[in-house]
Amino acid sequence: MAIIGPTGTGKTHIALAVAEIRSYVMVVACKPKDSLVDDAVARGYYRIPGNQLEIPYVDNRPMHPKVVYWPMLPASVRQKLPKHKILGAEKAIQGPLVGGAIGYVRNAGNWCLVIDEGTWVCRDLKLQRDIDSALFQFRSLNASIIILGQRPAWMGRYVLSQPTHLFLFNTNDRDDRKALGDVSGVDSRAVETVVQQLDQKRHEFLYIDTRERKMYRSIAPARVS
Ligand SMILES: Nc1ncnc2c1ncn2[C@@H]1O[C@H](COP(=O)(O)OP(=O)(O)O)[C@@H](O)[C@H]1O
Ligand SMILES: [Mg+2]
Repeated sequence: MAIIGPTGTGKTHIALAVAEIRSYVMVVACKPKDSLVDDAVARGYYRIPGNQLEIPYVDNRPMHPKVVYWPMLPASVRQKLPKHKILGAEKAIQGPLVGGAIGYVRNAGNWCLVIDEGTWVCRDLKLQRDIDSALFQFRSLNASIIILGQRPAWMGRYVLSQPTHLFLFNTNDRDDRKALGDVSGVDSRAVETVVQQLDQKRHEFLYIDTRERKMYRSIAPARVS
């Protein structure tokens, strides 16, 4: 599944709501300040402490069926670095760790991996190929992936052609419209037309079921807490 739209449109909102139906969910957070982690914990997710991705199993079952993993540059390292080196150091640490999370789900199966910052993961952490193969292979490995990103043009071709469920928010960008030609199952020209009309402020999206070849223009219910 892919959820693509500008910041603040409601991608994370949809991802966490949809992930509820899965038994085992691993949410990967990447931003230096990430309200996603608090949101996930409020929903009962277990936050994996530190950068080491270790999930204890009891009787062949994960002790924590819903986890949030937030690999980051340790504060002690960050403090010692000059400001211009922090970004590079963050990427150097996160790249292999997020790659490890993708590898974990690939090998374990069963899990639903939620990549909240797909654009960052694909472009900045340079994990486009790992994401591509996840989009290709996870189904046959009985695993699933929900990938979120800002721009269709920035996340590789497979993000539009492989998912069985697509949520697209507004974009008028020319590169994005071109990329939408890769959407499978439905009339991509209709997709292109509708995404330009979507009301971003109202969190409106186009949902595409690529297997059923159906699409719906809709708005997710606001969270009832
Ligand atoms: N369908 C919706 N109805 C009302 N509020 C929403 C809806 N979707 C998202 N929001 C709110 O909008 C804000 C941004 O949503 P979020 O999911 O964090 O966006 P994104 O992940 O795309 O940046 C949050 O405060 C969220 O609660
Ligand atoms: Mg978000």
